Amino acid sequence: MLNFSKKNILLCVTGGIAAYKSAEIIRLFKKNGADVRVVMTESAKEFITPLTLQAVSGNDIHDSLLDEKAESAMGHIELAKWADIILIAPCTAETMSKITHGRADDLMGALILASKANVYIAPAMNTNMWMDKGTQNNYQKLLSRNYTFIGPADGEQACGDVGPGRMVEPNDIIDLIISSLKNGPLANKIVTITAGPTREQIDPVRFISNNSSGKMGYSIAEAALELGATVNLVSGPVSIKADKSINLIKVNSANQMLESVMNCMSDSDIFIGCAAVSDFKPSDYSESKIKKDSADNLDIKLEKNKDILSIVSDKFPSAYVVGFAAETSNVKENAKSKLISKNLNMIISNDVSDKSIGFDVDENEVNVITKDEIIFLKRDKKIRIARNVLNTIAAQINN
Ligand code: PMT
Repeated sequence: MLNFSKKNILLCVTGGIAAYKSAEIIRLFKKNGADVRVVMTESAKEFITPLTLQAVSGNDIHDSLLDEKAESAMGHIELAKWADIILIAPCTAETMSKITHGRADDLMGALILASKANVYIAPAMNTNMWMDKGTQNNYQKLLSRNYTFIGPADGEQACGDVGPGRMVEPNDIIDLIISSLKNGPLANKIVTITAGPTREQIDPVRFISNNSSGKMGYSIAEAALELGATVNLVSGPVSIKADKSINLIKVNSANQMLESVMNCMSDSDIFIGCAAVSDFKPSDYSESKIKKDSADNLDIKLEKNKDILSIVSDKFPSAYVVGFAAETSNVKENAKSKLISKNLNMIISNDVSDKSIGFDVDENEVNVITKDEIIFLKRDKKIRIARNVLNTIAAQINN
């Protein structure tokens, strides 16, 4: 599994001797699938050159709050929003003090204030500096504000002193971040998700289907995995690949999807129906290919498929059940009716009359609707919409 697949990691490098290890940290993040951008403080550049980190990360280095070039490419607020995870490594005593006091007099300080991403701190300093009351006060304050500390490690330091203060080794930093992601808010939860279209066969070579690519459903599955859930993904025929850690069950028809969902739901806590399930199927299946010269007109009688979502909410009342609503008009109102008629905990509406969102594209824009509130998620990549949706579900369940 690529642990940081599609994750945006912002590495902030500050001025300590351990800065030379940041190239290795970047390499490990990239090896695990991440896109890495680097912010350097002025003093960090005394220990490792920006050129080295630019070459390893494959991206320009960000080092200035007021840099016209940087602002036109990716300004500090965009960078703060871009990051899924921020790691400050090495983090000096001065940087800890700066964050504790919310100072924004350089790019790194401003980014930390502007970002909602999880911030990990890997301190690196002389052992007496680490043990000093001022640093320890800052440490406690940052812990209480939900910053996650990695280390410092104990041992011999560059200055010859021995004790806590060394930066944790790059391999261990990466492992600790991975394991903290696995202990996310959906740890111990089993989530069953449907994705993609269904195919309702008319004869061996023809079928009724739709344009669902599976991108939204597979993103939902990845986001659930990132929050620590065990994930079953019941998928119609699509051309994208699922992460190896996802239990992928491939199906064709709505009936097969229903059967697989029922099997998974016996021990699932959450169901998310993102598939574009065909509402109708041919009443009769022709075992042999229907010949085009058998008649000038062909009538195909259709009958309704069973509604998977309604069956799940009916048969598994203790599960948290989420539907999607693909609408072309009165989007919120129609979705809200489905929330009630299908007895759901949440429904996510998307306006599929807009061809740039919804079916078979990389972005979406949705309303997350519960009985109590509507949260609008503006146009964004499907993986980011999915992360937002899953965090909302986790918050609802854990409350
Ligand atoms: O796959 P992509 O290309 O990324 O596109 C994503 C998407 C547009 C398919 C997705 O965002 C979406 O909107 N999925 C739901 C599509 C749909 O079928 O909507 P609906 O309004 O017709 O159905 C409402 C809900 O009932 C859905 O959760 C659907 O999965 C469910 N349903 C519908 C019919 C049926 N027989 N059984 C069901 O469970």
